[in-house]
Formats: sequence, C-alpha cells, structure tokens
Amino acid sequence: MKHIEFQDKKGTFIIHNPENYSGLYLPLAGEKGLKSSITPNLGGDSKTDQNHFLLEPVSIENLHNNRNTRNFWCRVYKVSDEKNELSRGINPQLLGCWSVCGNSAEQEFEKFTEKQEESVLEAGFMWQKLSRRSEKYGLQAEVTSFVTISGDMEVEYVEITNISDKDVEVVPIGVIPVYGRSADNLRDHRHVTSLLHRIQTTEYGVEVKPVLSFDERGHQKNNTTYFVYGSSENGEKPESFYPTVEDFIGEGGTFLNPEAVRTNKPGKTAGTKIQGKEAVGGLRFSRKTLKPKEAAGYILLSGTTKTSDSIALLTSGCKTKLQVQKMLEEVKEHWIQKVNVAFETGNSDVDNYLKWICFQPILRRIYGCSFLPYHDYGKGGRGWRDLWQDCLALLIMEPSDVRQMIVDNYGGVRIDGTNATIIGSSQGEFIADRNNITRVWMDHSFWPFVTTKLYLDQTGDFDILFEKIPYFKDFQSKRGTDHDQEWNSSYGNWQKTDNAEVYYGTVLEHILLQNLCAFFDVGEHNEMRLHGADWNDAMDMAWEKGESVAFTCAYAGNLKEIAHVLRELERVQGINKIELAEEMECLFAYGKQLYESPKEKLQILKQYTDLSAHNLSGNKVVLSLEKVCRNLEEKADWLMENIRKNEWIQDGDKGWFNGYYDNHGRKVEYSAVPDEAGNNACAKNGVRMMLTGQVFAIMSGTATDQQIQEICKGADAYLYDRNAGGYRLNTDFKEEKFDLGRMFGFAYGEKENGAVFSHMAVMYANALYKTGHAREGYKVLQTLLDTAMDFDRSKMYPGIPEYFDNQGRGLYAYLTGAASWYMLTMITEVFGVKGQLGDMVIAPALMPEQYDQEGKASLEMEFAGKKFAIHIFNKEKKEWNEAQIREAFCDGITLLAETGRKARLMRSEIEKLELEKVHEINIILK
Ligand code: G1P
Repeated sequence: MKHIEFQDKKGTFIIHNPENYSGLYLPLAGEKGLKSSITPNLGGDSKTDQNHFLLEPVSIENLHNNRNTRNFWCRVYKVSDEKNELSRGINPQLLGCWSVCGNSAEQEFEKFTEKQEESVLEAGFMWQKLSRRSEKYGLQAEVTSFVTISGDMEVEYVEITNISDKDVEVVPIGVIPVYGRSADNLRDHRHVTSLLHRIQTTEYGVEVKPVLSFDERGHQKNNTTYFVYGSSENGEKPESFYPTVEDFIGEGGTFLNPEAVRTNKPGKTAGTKIQGKEAVGGLRFSRKTLKPKEAAGYILLSGTTKTSDSIALLTSGCKTKLQVQKMLEEVKEHWIQKVNVAFETGNSDVDNYLKWICFQPILRRIYGCSFLPYHDYGKGGRGWRDLWQDCLALLIMEPSDVRQMIVDNYGGVRIDGTNATIIGSSQGEFIADRNNITRVWMDHSFWPFVTTKLYLDQTGDFDILFEKIPYFKDFQSKRGTDHDQEWNSSYGNWQKTDNAEVYYGTVLEHILLQNLCAFFDVGEHNEMRLHGADWNDAMDMAWEKGESVAFTCAYAGNLKEIAHVLRELERVQGINKIELAEEMECLFAYGKQLYESPKEKLQILKQYTDLSAHNLSGNKVVLSLEKVCRNLEEKADWLMENIRKNEWIQDGDKGWFNGYYDNHGRKVEYSAVPDEAGNNACAKNGVRMMLTGQVFAIMSGTATDQQIQEICKGADAYLYDRNAGGYRLNTDFKEEKFDLGRMFGFAYGEKENGAVFSHMAVMYANALYKTGHAREGYKVLQTLLDTAMDFDRSKMYPGIPEYFDNQGRGLYAYLTGAASWYMLTMITEVFGVKGQLGDMVIAPALMPEQYDQEGKASLEMEFAGKKFAIHIFNKEKKEWNEAQIREAFCDGITLLAETGRKARLMRSEIEKLELEKVHEINIILK
C-alpha cells in the first residue's frame, strides 16, 4: 500500500491515519521567531529559542504521551427533533466530547479498534491540514496549522462541519497550554517558575508574562509575553476563558478528559488576573447549532512577543477566515519559492522526495541542529562544520547572500588555525566558550575551503580570496593545548597586533593557515591528530594518541585543490605574489626529511604557535604564488603517498584504508588476513572497516582507481545492508572501545556506531561520482532514497533522515547535513551541472532508469542569478558513460560542446541572458 500520496510537484502529500505511526512530526516555522513541531495529533512544541518555549519542550519519547498540547474540543449535543426541541427551549442531550485532533480519552481508547476514526493529513512546506471524521458525532473537522512568515504567531484554523442529516449543537473549546519559560526549567524549578507567572485574560485570549526568568543566564527580569488568542471565523470573541491548568483539567483531571470540557464548567471573563499558576490558553466559544452540511470556523493564534501591547495589533490581521486563508497562501508560496530547485526524473515520487530534501537545508538554517523532537540536544545554533556545509546548498538556492556569509564566517578562525565553536545568532558573531573547555574538532578547518571552492567554481569571483577579515581570539591557544594567560575579556574577541590594533588577513590567508596548521599537527604515525574528534562527533575519546587518517586524506585533497585554485588565479588574473602574516612563513617549510618526521613537524607547529600565541607583529611577508603552489602540491603528494603506503589494508580482492588510530596508538581497521607477524585480529572480532576513511581517500584523490574498485568491493561485502538502507558507517566492532569514542557505547547499528548514516553515505556517493564511478555512486544514493520512500520501513514523512536504524526506520528527520550533500550531488554530479570559474559546465551522469519514458530528465535551478530549465535527452537510454553529447542548446543557440560528454555555457553568455525568463537548455545525447 502506498502511504505517502503526492498531490502535485511541490512536495504536497497526504497520508491516512498518520497517528498510527510513531515519531512523525512536521516543522512549522517563520523566517525568524517561532520554531514549532507538530504531530498528527497536534502534539509537538513551539519556541523562539532555548529560553523561550511557548509550549512545553518535547523530545521524541514524549510524543506518544504528549497530551498537554494543542487541542480543540467540541461538546456535542444531538438535537433529535431539530424544529421543535430547540425552539421549545429544551436542552438537547449531550452526546459526548470530541477532540478534532483525536486527543481525548475516548478516541485514545478506540484507536486500533473498528471504531477508530478516519483521519487524513495533508502537508507541505511549513503547513499541515488534519481532517478527521466522526460518524458517532456526525462531525468532520479540518485543522490547518502554520506559522506566519515573520514567525510572530502559530495559527490553527479549525473548521467543523455537520456531516449528519440532523442539526448538531456544539460548544467549541480551543486549548493551547502555555509553558512560557526556558527549556532548562523542565525539571529544574518547574514548580517555582510557575509561581512567576502573571496571567491575564483579555477580550480575545490569554496572556502570560512571567515576572522573572530563571535559567542558565541567572535570574533576569522577563520581558516576554506568551499569548493564545482566538476568534470565530467572522472575528467574534471567545465567550470566556480557562487560563490555568487546574481550572481547565480540574482536580484529578487530565488533558485527555478535562473537567472544563466534561462538565461544561463556566469559563472566566475577560479582565481576569491570576498569579503563580501553570497556564493554559483555554478559549471557550459560544454554543453553535450546525445544520446538516453547515460548517463553522475557529481561529487560534499563539505566540510570544517582547511588547505585550502589540498583541492586539499583531492578531488583528488574522481574525477572520478570509485573513487566515490569505496568510496560508502567502506562507505556502513563500516556502515553495525558496526551494528554487526541481528535478524531473522518470519517477515523480522521487522528484517530490528530492523537493523535500532541497527544503531541508533551509530548515537547518532556521532550526540549527536543535529544536525538533529528535534533536533535543544543543541550545540552538549550528556547529561550525554544519554552518559551512549548509552554505553548499544555500549557494545554489540563495546565492546572493552567501558571499558575505562566507567572508563573515571566516572571522571565526583563530590564528592557530582552529576556530570558535559557539556561533552567535547573528552572522559573523562568534562566542568564546563560556566554560573554557578546550575542544578542537580536527575536521573543522577542512570545510571552509570546500564551500569556498564551490563558490569560486560557481562564480569565478576570485576577489573573495582577497577580502580582509579579522581572526577570532579567546583564552584558548596553540590548537587547544594551551591558554593565552595574557588574554582577558577586555582584549576582546578579535586577534590584535603588538600595536593593539585588530589584525586583518585575507580570506586566502585564513584558508592557508587552516590547512597548513593541520599539516603539521600530527601524531606518532605521521597522520593528523584526532584531537577532540573529527566529522564523527562520537570519536571523542582519543585525545592523546588518536589520529584521523580519514581527514588527513581530506586535508591532502584541500592542499592540492588550493594550489589548483591559486594556479587558476595566476592564469586568469596574472597575480603572482601574495601577502601573509610574517609569522606564517615557517609553515611553508618543506623537504622529505621534515615530512617523514612527526617530531620535526610538531616543532614547526610549535614555532608558529609560539610566535602567534598572543599578538601578531602586524608585519607581512610576500611570497611567490608559484612557490606557494609547489609547496602545497608537494605536501599533498607526500601525504597521499604516505597513506597509500602505510594505511592500505588488503583483503583478497577487496581492500580499504585504515581511517584511524586509537588512543593506544593502534590501527583501528583490519581485514581477515593475518598481519606480517601472523596475528589475525579479525579472528575474534571480525573484519573492521569504516566508511569515513574511504570517502575522503576517494574524494581527495588519494585512492587510485584500482583501490577505489577494491574499496567498493569491500564496502559491498562488509558495510552494505539493503535492509538497513544501504552502506553502514562501520562494521560491528563488538567492543566498547573506550580508547576511541563514545560511539562504541551506542548500540550497534544506531547513529554513529554503524548505522546507515545518510551524511557519510551521500558523501561516499559524491566521491564515487566525482572519480567517475557513477554506477556505484548511484547505488548509494538510490538505496538511501528507496529506504526513505518505503514508508512501511522508514515510517517517516518525505525527506532524508540523519540515519536509518537496523530495521530501516528513518530517525532524526529534517536537520541533517546529508540533505545539502544529496542536493549538491544530484545537481553537480548526477545532472552534472557545475560551475567552472563562473561558466556553466554540463556533463550528465544519469543512469538510464533516471530518464522518463521518452528518455528525458530535467533540472530547474538558478545559476549566476539567471533561471534555467535544463533538459537532458537520452532517447535510447544509453549507459551514462556511453552516451555522447550530440547537440546542446541554450534558448535555441548552440552551446560549446567540449569533449564528447561535456557542454559549456560561457559566463559572458550567461551575463547576456534576461533576468526573469526561464532559459531552456537542451542537451541531446547520442
Ligand atoms: C551530525 C552532525 C554533524 C556530525 C555528524 C556525525 O550529522 O550535525 O556535525 O558531523 O552528525 O557525528 P548530520 O545530522 O548533519 O548528518
């Protein structure tokens, strides 16, 4: 049975009885302001940040008992003789109390029985509409939920229709419990903080303004007001209010069977003030008789504001059905427009899943890595590596903002090549770690250049490399190994020179510094030290002796690519010298003897970090670009060769690279083949293979073509598990391995310990495509998507999850870096649309099955500010590497076809194209 049924090409889908599946939720948010999550029963929560939760914070395990949440009740009366009974003043008989979202004791009890009501959820980007039908009560309800674009309010529009052939009388009661404080208070002073509440009812709703806030920031005067307002579809006020939990649920009551609803308790009037109670926005509307087929609509608005006098104005624009409908249309349109990438392959369901995947990076820009039920860690914001990787997708969807974002983000780099890890709420704002905990993630310096390289490819804008920005400065120094005792907060968070001036360096200087410092920061096997962890956050217990070969490969690739970019810079712009901080000169030391000696490398690193431990001199040194390039290339070549020589593991016709050393300085991975001493480590624990090391060995060019093929065989044999969704992150080590990381404490097959972890799997695909192994890459991408799309197993709404568990369930929906990489890989590798110094180059690597029946596949996207619809025609459905380009056109004009498989649209031509028009590119393969 098909569970997710798409309604259009914009990701809108319906699903029947979604409440029968666990862990489902949708994000609802504005561009700023409220960030909500909503389940099929209207559970979930809503907040603006860690310290301002409108609804009580929920984690995934709360969702199945999350009842103190949004609800809308109808006390339903049956009018048996409609003509006479009412007019004769006879009180109709109470039939029962119905929750339009299935959140009542009765509905809960009837769930999974033949009495279970039919419900249908329709959803799109940042909205959902839940329909529920009750034969017993003769009612049908639709609840539409969304957050306004500005993020000021969450809106629920409830429409109740009489589907019986008799009159039905209802008393509608909308209720949104107001938590109104910091997530910290969930179990830290939960009761005490309710004593701070000042609650009042106004004509249209309930307002809660705590006097103080108690959280990690201390005790502060609170300025935030939380509100729940409401009206009928015509803007009529509620009749009365239930402003406190005890008032609403009653003694011994619950939110599933609240006294106010059960006993028809009269509500409080407007103007009531109450102190020191748990609050509820309970809104009771006047009794209403619905004729057969007649409908009545009600609006609930909830939000937070710093200016309580603005609530009336804020809510006045959303008091009637017409206003709500208009707002909903705006919301839908806004988010659809944001996702300005669309794919058309042979399968429209795939295309719709891809739409959601493209939406995910936007969600992570808004939610960071916190604030959805699975993502109950962190206090908001994004990590450094996430920030940079999300820029990859934003470069494609929101390119105009990204240039400045890139430049500003480099301001987080420290002069020792590490970076600030707490990222402030505004762009370019970095915060010193409050606890002065030394944390260095050794992969962090790798990502900025990856993003900058994509930017350079897309735009050809070399000038960005010469933008000047400062360096971040705090107490930490020497790559997390020391503290700068001379630094204090009055110095400020920007690196200074001896003249007490803020030091500015170019973006290029930042890039070189990050990658060169990494080169020298090695462990005893001459691979880069793992420090706190690398991309895999959970490899965090090998601070002393751990090494990451995986990221040594990655940095080697960067050094090579930086040299490549600099050579292009010289070729295109004739620049042949660059200026750097004089302290950095020692980082260009070279020579085999140095390369081979971890000790000498560490000495050079020490020399540099000593020189830059507090202030810089402010003096610059000028270096020849040619020399810099040769230096980088030599270092990269040495790194790669060293890894090929020392880290390769042969396993019959399979092979892979050892990706790590543990805190005992031992190689982490091994094959079934005994080592030279005849020891067979595998005999006890089985083969040990990890995906991360392979991904970066391939991506960087460290792995030879032969090795890539053997890696693929190894991955297929030891990591691939179709049932779990594809390639696992590692084999089962069957060991707790406290000398490597907490990941080994996780159950095998979960999260970083051997789950099918989408992010690394997609990067594996990307690396395979990049090196000409498109068929293998396709298998990786397709297995992931097939698993996500198989709702019976994945049990998730459309999109790609962070990982699939052993049963193939998709976990940690929406907020994953995998989405950016998936989208990027689809565009730049599968459709093969890449920037090359600002030109658009198209070299498709689509599989025959990715074309529609006519042999056509299409991609809509923006490039250089112009809109394109790119169609690839492969009528004979030839294999990707057998099809050659016969003709290529843009708006009917021939494109430059370079080799047999690549077409090029020059930047100069793109610049001449009209702005608003969609330009058609047709690539005809033969
Ligand atoms: C998450 C984190 C990312 C980290 C990864 C592996 O990945 O966001 O920073 O590198 O786990 O530990 P994501 O959910 O983005 O796929």
